[in-house]
Amino acid sequence: EQIEKGGYDHFMLKEIYEQPSVIKDTYRGRLLANQGLIKMAGIEDNLERFLNAERILIVACGTSWHAGLVAEYIIEEFARIPVEVEYASEFRYRNPIINKNDVLIAISQSGETADTLAAIKLAKERGAFVFGVCNVVGSSISRETHAGAYTHAGPEIGVASTKAFTTQITVITMIALRLAKAKGTLSNSDYHRYLQELELIPEKVQDALLTNDAAEAIGKVFQKSSNCLYLGRGYNFPVALEGALKLKEISYIHAEGYPAAEMKHGPIALIDEHMPVIVIAPKQGHYDKVVSNIQEIKSRSGKIIAVVTKGDVQVRELADYVIEVPDTSDALSPLITTIPLQLLSYHIAVLRGCNVDQPRNLAKSVTVE
Ligand code: G6P
Repeated sequence: EQIEKGGYDHFMLKEIYEQPSVIKDTYRGRLLANQGLIKMAGIEDNLERFLNAERILIVACGTSWHAGLVAEYIIEEFARIPVEVEYASEFRYRNPIINKNDVLIAISQSGETADTLAAIKLAKERGAFVFGVCNVVGSSISRETHAGAYTHAGPEIGVASTKAFTTQITVITMIALRLAKAKGTLSNSDYHRYLQELELIPEKVQDALLTNDAAEAIGKVFQKSSNCLYLGRGYNFPVALEGALKLKEISYIHAEGYPAAEMKHGPIALIDEHMPVIVIAPKQGHYDKVVSNIQEIKSRSGKIIAVVTKGDVQVRELADYVIEVPDTSDALSPLITTIPLQLLSYHIAVLRGCNVDQPRNLAKSVTVE
């Protein structure tokens, strides 16, 4: 097992550090930035189905559902196709409206999650075209779907999902770009800029991994916390949800993720000097709005840990701790901002003496409902 961990103390840490290389594996042969092309067989062969879709439904569970939320934002923005994201467990039991020209995308690391599999069967029965985004080759979901794209993240052993999440987002980003190209919904210059930027994401993730020491130091300060709030807006709202999920899964600290503006509608009542608030505040996106959310937290004495873009000045003045990540366009930022949050959860869990790779009560894949 020590050998399999490749010198890391835990599988989770190894998998966090693998992200630059597995993201490359995910887009290798598919993203041809120089030629301005994205080639994914599952999409090319079924392009008409996607282009004729009145809407795209996305079903998933857990971390994969968070990738689904990112997918909603990016597919709607780039390809202008309406997207609805649902927990597979809700979708399958509520007699959902599914039209024949709907496309359903099921996202699953294991490809074995029972609720996601059942949602796929239901959508197929009702005539939808079903596309899978799975990591495990030959898994049940990859076999049940009409077509799909593998994430190529390699085996993920840690129960808390890390590299599966970023590779799922990589696949989804390529799908959004391919559809945008076919529909002409992105300007030529934006389309090419995103292709080039996606190609540089592994380097930026490598750079974001340099936040490890900062994450550990901040982890030491907050390891005894009993609650934690994660806030983000736009593309970084799903990242806030994922950050909170990671923390509760492996450290057993109660954590909630919220869209930053929704803080006023409830969570703000919880903020005092004992409440660490992790705010994702990159320069691109809704920066000014997030800054005003940070001011609201500060005036209530909340402890602010901010994930910011390198060189940030404004948030640095307000926050108690900052973690700097490389600059990225808003739509691709989840691939970067999620990295320090994974590391923060990891270190807090280690400091609390938790079983990081096999947290209590959780299973790597939930094959029963
Ligand atoms: C379990 C795992 C999570 C995972 C979720 C969905 O809860 O512990 O890490 O996100 O299932 O699994 P899937 O394999 O469908 O992505």
